[in-house]
Amino acid sequence: MKLNLEDRLTVITGAARGIGAAFAEAFAAEGARILLVDRDAAVGDVAGASGGESLVGDLSDPAFAGSIADRAAELGGADILINNAGISRPAPLPGTADGDWEEVMDVNANAAFRLTRSLWEQLSARSGAVINIASFAAKRSTLFGGNASYVASKHAIAGLTRAAAFEGAAAGVRVNAIAPGVVATEMIKLHDGPTREKIKSFIPQKRFADPGEIADLALFLASDRSRHICGEVININGGLTMD
Ligand SMILES: NC(=O)c1ccc[n+]([C@@H]2O[C@H](COP(=O)([O-])OP(=O)(O)OC[C@H]3O[C@@H](n4cnc5c(N)ncnc54)[C@H](O)[C@@H]3O)[C@@H](O)[C@H]2O)c1
Repeated sequence: MKLNLEDRLTVITGAARGIGAAFAEAFAAEGARILLVDRDAAVGDVAGASGGESLVGDLSDPAFAGSIADRAAELGGADILINNAGISRPAPLPGTADGDWEEVMDVNANAAFRLTRSLWEQLSARSGAVINIASFAAKRSTLFGGNASYVASKHAIAGLTRAAAFEGAAAGVRVNAIAPGVVATEMIKLHDGPTREKIKSFIPQKRFADPGEIADLALFLASDRSRHICGEVININGGLTMD
């Protein structure tokens, strides 16, 4: 299947490792130009390996979105935006600190809103696509509870996806989200080994996703091959949840 992503400028947040780094590799392999964003300077190595560029900064800083948009404009304008950066601060609700709640909402939801807003004009001018990285926790709670900030932030990104898709349909921007189940990255090390095995037992396919499998779906959603898909939050989770 031809994806026609050659030369398309793709902005990917949270690309120093994990799913974001897999996006960088996959889009570069399709000939896309990549502009990677992360607070971890290792993002420079990921960009270098794929012949792309990187910006190091903290997405919870409201001013950062403007700097990213400026650089994208200098490169000719963004065609694709992948809001992928995310954090998790698990805690039972009564023990969730204000600061943790705010940090999770800032990175997972507010930064995606700000960057989408900052790049909207560029994306509109270029029939662009936005892909938000949600989670199965965008549609239900986590498997064991104890992570209200993450669940709320992922529900927010699902809402942002639908609202932006509605407006984007008129503006020429297509917006969708990916809802992974459990992916083999550093993030799942928040769970100890026995808990990880227990989670696996709930998954009909009895395995976690490889980051490259999430990237395959992102390539499809970024390409014109998915041109009639608009405002969806698409599960990719080995059957963990089905809707
Ligand atoms: N791993 C999973 O099982 C899983 C499941 C569902 C959804 N997700 C979602 O997928 C996305 C990627 O997750 P991952 O597993 O690759 O995580 P990860 O922790 O391996 O990578 C996240 C990246 O985001 C960057 N980042 C975090 N906060 C930032 C900030 N304030 N500014 C700039 N960069 C920042 C980190 O430096 C890191 O490089 C997240 O949105 C996550 O919620 C992951």
